Amino acid sequence: MKINRFEFIKKIVSFFVLYAVNLVTAWAVVIPIETAKNALILQTDADNRLLITYFGVKLENSSEYALLNAQMKQDDNRAGVFNHAYTPSGTWNLVEPALSITHSDGNLSTELKFISYKNEVIDANVQIHSVLLKDPVYGTEITLYYKTYINENVIEQWSTIKNKEKGSITLQKYASANLNFVDKDYYLTLFHGGWGREMNPEQTLLSYGIKSLDSKLGTRPDSFMQPVFMVSFDKPATEENGKILLGTLAWSGNYKMEFEVDPYHNLRLIAGINPYSSEYRLVSDKEFETPSFIYTFSNQGIGEASRQLHRWARNYRLLDGNGSRLTLLNNWESTFFDFNEAKLINLFADGKKLGVDLFLLDDGWFANKYPRNDDRAGLGDWEPNRKKLPNGIGYLVKEADKAGIKFGIWIEPEMVNPKSELYEKHPEWVIKQPERPEFYFRNQLVLDLTNPQVQDYVFQIVDNLFGKNTEVAYIKWDCNTAIYNANSSYLQKTGQNQSQLYVDYVKGLYRVLERIRSKYPKIPMMLCSSGGGRVDYGALKYFTEFWPSDNTGPVERAYIQWNYSYFYPAIALCNHITDWSKVGIKYKTDVAMMGKMGYDIVVSNLSEKELMFSQDAVKAYNSVKELVWHGDLYRLASPYENPYSSLMFVNEVKSRAVIFNYVVTNRFDEKFTPTPIRLQGLNPEQKYRIKEVNLYPGTSTTLDTTAIFSGDYLMKVGFNPDLNQQRTSVVLEVNQEAK
Ligand code: GLA
Repeated sequence: MKINRFEFIKKIVSFFVLYAVNLVTAWAVVIPIETAKNALILQTDADNRLLITYFGVKLENSSEYALLNAQMKQDDNRAGVFNHAYTPSGTWNLVEPALSITHSDGNLSTELKFISYKNEVIDANVQIHSVLLKDPVYGTEITLYYKTYINENVIEQWSTIKNKEKGSITLQKYASANLNFVDKDYYLTLFHGGWGREMNPEQTLLSYGIKSLDSKLGTRPDSFMQPVFMVSFDKPATEENGKILLGTLAWSGNYKMEFEVDPYHNLRLIAGINPYSSEYRLVSDKEFETPSFIYTFSNQGIGEASRQLHRWARNYRLLDGNGSRLTLLNNWESTFFDFNEAKLINLFADGKKLGVDLFLLDDGWFANKYPRNDDRAGLGDWEPNRKKLPNGIGYLVKEADKAGIKFGIWIEPEMVNPKSELYEKHPEWVIKQPERPEFYFRNQLVLDLTNPQVQDYVFQIVDNLFGKNTEVAYIKWDCNTAIYNANSSYLQKTGQNQSQLYVDYVKGLYRVLERIRSKYPKIPMMLCSSGGGRVDYGALKYFTEFWPSDNTGPVERAYIQWNYSYFYPAIALCNHITDWSKVGIKYKTDVAMMGKMGYDIVVSNLSEKELMFSQDAVKAYNSVKELVWHGDLYRLASPYENPYSSLMFVNEVKSRAVIFNYVVTNRFDEKFTPTPIRLQGLNPEQKYRIKEVNLYPGTSTTLDTTAIFSGDYLMKVGFNPDLNQQRTSVVLEVNQEAK
């Protein structure tokens, strides 16, 4: 047998490495938390505290993880152990804590020592690593959970805190996750916004100190800042290059995510429920479970990180993420509050004429004593308005069925107008300060979902709709008000702390949604909050889709949808064609197609050509929707760097793709795409033919559709969609040539 010298040397080297590792592990416990590509390494120190020693791409040789800690010389006199896996406060730690507790005797100190580690294998793709830490004096038990989705390279992290004292303890700060990163520089991208202008990215080089993203709005937490972020390591990542972390907190309430560059220039990240006004009392032996912090890492750019998160969301989080969706016609912008049965029945026919699957009846269908004819009255009184709808919802469902279209309905069950029967009957169900003037947003207030009776009431609203009208096929669940005057008469009455309101509200909401889903597991529901005021993976467990923005101006939408696409799969985004802007119907439609398409227009106002185009567009959408809903997204050209944007969805076997190209400026420019746009995600060895779809009647393509290209060519050279003033949006279908 021939001696392989290389193999021999390798064996000798790994023997010595293992020897060294054994020496180190004589006192250290090393916990590798791995996905297919990445690793998060935890290790105990000499004092049995738990540290994070590594985060990044996996090492080839896992035995070498034990050597990591020795490389870190960052513990000068215990000024602070910056890379602690869950930093407590009041003892040795002098930096921003993840955990802060007032113990039953008033003492403010907590220390956490490693006790044990467990790895539960759920299936071939999912594992739950859990690490138990304990305070040696008070016995407080903290369990850190790291759920790994191996192929998606996603980690879902949360913690539980258990009170082992005889008396109650108060949690001051109780983060979901505490992470530590070591690199040269850190570029944070946050997404700020407001009504009608959601998801604006802003990138900053993090400097020393703490930068935090947070919300104190309660029910519409994301109105000003979305609970999502990206961190590029070393230098700003691009779609195809660079080290990038995408993260988000799965919590539909106040959140806080802190990014601290410590004195050694490491990055500490603490994410969780916002401690603002939220001290939480925990009685003896009770446990608090934090929401999940969800993150994914790629060293190959933002595109790959996004696709990982999308796959995770479709496979594991978004309700019916791998299923299908209904195209629809909504009546909000076409009628607002002004409709009756006859008008609606005509709209059913319009929806059918367009070819969509469902008609969605929006706000204004309910309340009698204080009819819901505008947004000043009626919210809370969920009986059909007898004047507008004398025959009730059941009748509408039947009429829609006769017209050959499904029927869906809008509700806003967490809210109440002071001018309503509900408010008259149950003022104690409303969140408000007893001694102070009420403060309204859109003339309404928030119901107190900490109260089990209110939870029952909200559940009943939905149960009545589905129970009485079994054919209701869809719900749009809105939430238009933030919490002002945060105070609960229920918490008061039951002797609980007011500071639990923000947290218990969200828990109450989830309890209701849980009940709805156990009784009605499949019915599609849209999450809406005057647009994207409440979008997160806590809520999306119960919803099939969300409304990204009330702003449906298609150029604005090209940006808004682009930015949501970093974190959410296209199947979750409801994009409607409306009359919000005067841009032509083709452009609007092409933009709406890059997600879940719907309409909110007056169909009878469409010209003959526009109608013809729209009817064909619904068919064109039906033929590409599979790619958009379940394919992999490649963002080809950013609207922030070009006068156009271009995105592509490719199916798993790389045989079919659809490409959306939109001009985003009205500046004079003869040809917006003088050079081709490089495609991605194809098979370099396959041959493809490209055709233009969704053309406006009477126009023809300027592209040569007879040409056949290799995937290699399309990914190295590209394809030119020929965007110009006459062709401001172009949809391309890419099909593999039969061999
Ligand atoms: C919110 C929603 C809109 C519409 C109105 C109805 O603003 O975002 O789509 O449903 O409420 O009042």
